[in-house]
Amino acid sequence: MWSDLKQTSRPPISSLLDDAGRAADFSASVDGMLFDYSKTSMTHEARALLFELAMSSGLEALRQGMFNGEGINATEGRAALHTALRNTTRESVMLDGINIMTGVRNELDRMILFAENLRQGRFQGDKITDVVNIGIGGSHLGPEMCSLALAPYHNGPRCHFVSNVDGADIGDCLSRLRPRNTIAIVASKTFATAETVMNAKAAMEWMASEVQCPGERFAAATSFPDRAIEFGIEPDKVFRFEDWVGGRYSIWGPVGLSLMIAIGADRFREFLEGAASMDDNFLNAHWRENMPLLLAMTGLWHHQVCGYTSRAIIPYCHRLARLPAYFQQLEMESNGKGVTLDGQPAQVETGSIVWGEAGTNAQHSFFQFVHQGSWVVPCEFMVAVEGYEPQLANHQRMLVANCIAQSEALMRGRGLGEVKSKMIEEGLPLDEIDRLAPHRVFPGNRPSTTLIFDRLTPGRLGQIISLYEHRVFAEGVVLGINSFDQWGVELGKELAMEMDAILSDDSPIEGRDCSTRQLAKFAKTRLVS
Ligand code: F6P
Repeated sequence: MWSDLKQTSRPPISSLLDDAGRAADFSASVDGMLFDYSKTSMTHEARALLFELAMSSGLEALRQGMFNGEGINATEGRAALHTALRNTTRESVMLDGINIMTGVRNELDRMILFAENLRQGRFQGDKITDVVNIGIGGSHLGPEMCSLALAPYHNGPRCHFVSNVDGADIGDCLSRLRPRNTIAIVASKTFATAETVMNAKAAMEWMASEVQCPGERFAAATSFPDRAIEFGIEPDKVFRFEDWVGGRYSIWGPVGLSLMIAIGADRFREFLEGAASMDDNFLNAHWRENMPLLLAMTGLWHHQVCGYTSRAIIPYCHRLARLPAYFQQLEMESNGKGVTLDGQPAQVETGSIVWGEAGTNAQHSFFQFVHQGSWVVPCEFMVAVEGYEPQLANHQRMLVANCIAQSEALMRGRGLGEVKSKMIEEGLPLDEIDRLAPHRVFPGNRPSTTLIFDRLTPGRLGQIISLYEHRVFAEGVVLGINSFDQWGVELGKELAMEMDAILSDDSPIEGRDCSTRQLAKFAKTRLVS
């Protein structure tokens, strides 16, 4: 099937767009949000083959299996049931004979109680003005990204995010806060991640400098409540999620506690409902309107067929500035795998390199490369047409104009003839035109997709995240890999612990390669013990 796909024609995108019906044909919409993938070289024939490929890979059964709680995360022996955390239709979800929705709702109710009490200033006599989320990876990127995205909805305490083991991160954060007005949330599925545990200990010491019972000022979101309690957090402030929620899929439950505190329970529910509506689209919509499936097919087309190994996420919405980083973990930790589910080397390149930046900032940073560089980088644009600053409507219009114009410019390009004509109009001498014209040529025919919607509301944000989660899953299924494990992070973690022991003088430095020894020796002479 891959070879059939590679043999299909790839006409210039501009010629495909000569068909006036293409924009509507190569688009889908969910609740008024439009996904346009017509500015790609995907033909009808290629689309049909991609769909066939997806169906023949068992996507339908695996998709249902995921929602039903089957053990699709086979290398970790568990289900991938993050969709249950946003199952707002109140249907039961059975796992090993137990309806897991009871526990999910119970925990959500506990979170709401905690968050609303805090928001109403009821916390042991002290007013809580600040919340610090301590976590890393999926326990950090989701809360941070969503908190920034939904800033117009913040009406609770301020939220801060600490992730890096670099003391600069927590040092800078806490130096601006007062312990007695602060709550720390330790978000860690395992409650064993070295960075998070170290930062949590530092926060506990800081808290103790002003608060008599510092443990009372902590909450936890984890799958290991016992570890959180042993750390000193009171059981009623420990919020649990199960091992069938992967770290990078965990924003929908207790890991979203800081977000709930910031925007309130009602808005948090809207966030879950938005995600659930995209779940419904993925599960039930016909392929023509199935947004995650179409986005996955576009991704597979660009990487595995056209050979474009990276994709740029460009949100024209400043508050989505952290979305590229969030999708980077989602995509690269999920689909950056070298072997298929049966342990065999993958036949095609897996995953994609995901990067990006908010527009228009991206235009003044790496768009030179995107427009004229020798690599083709499919851009995934997204734009919220309505802003939250009515007094700055001209900014909003300019923002939207830039987004639409970039996709047009990438597709259209500017050939040598047009460049020369423009230079003649500018009155440049002919020899200068010959010398400079090649530098001003835009090859064009560069693909992009655009997701355009009204406003970045909690519901929309939920939809967008869910859209990309399912897209990553669908691509993973077609590639035959397990999108839900992350063994590739383990070796580095192990060696870091060994190196920490070497640097703290406990362990011998011998037995390592000469480069590693050299670096360790250099560091040892300078590290303060
Ligand atoms: O190291 C990778 C990882 O396991 C991610 O998958 C996860 O999101 C992150 O670390 C944090 O893990 P935890 O929530 O267990 O602290």
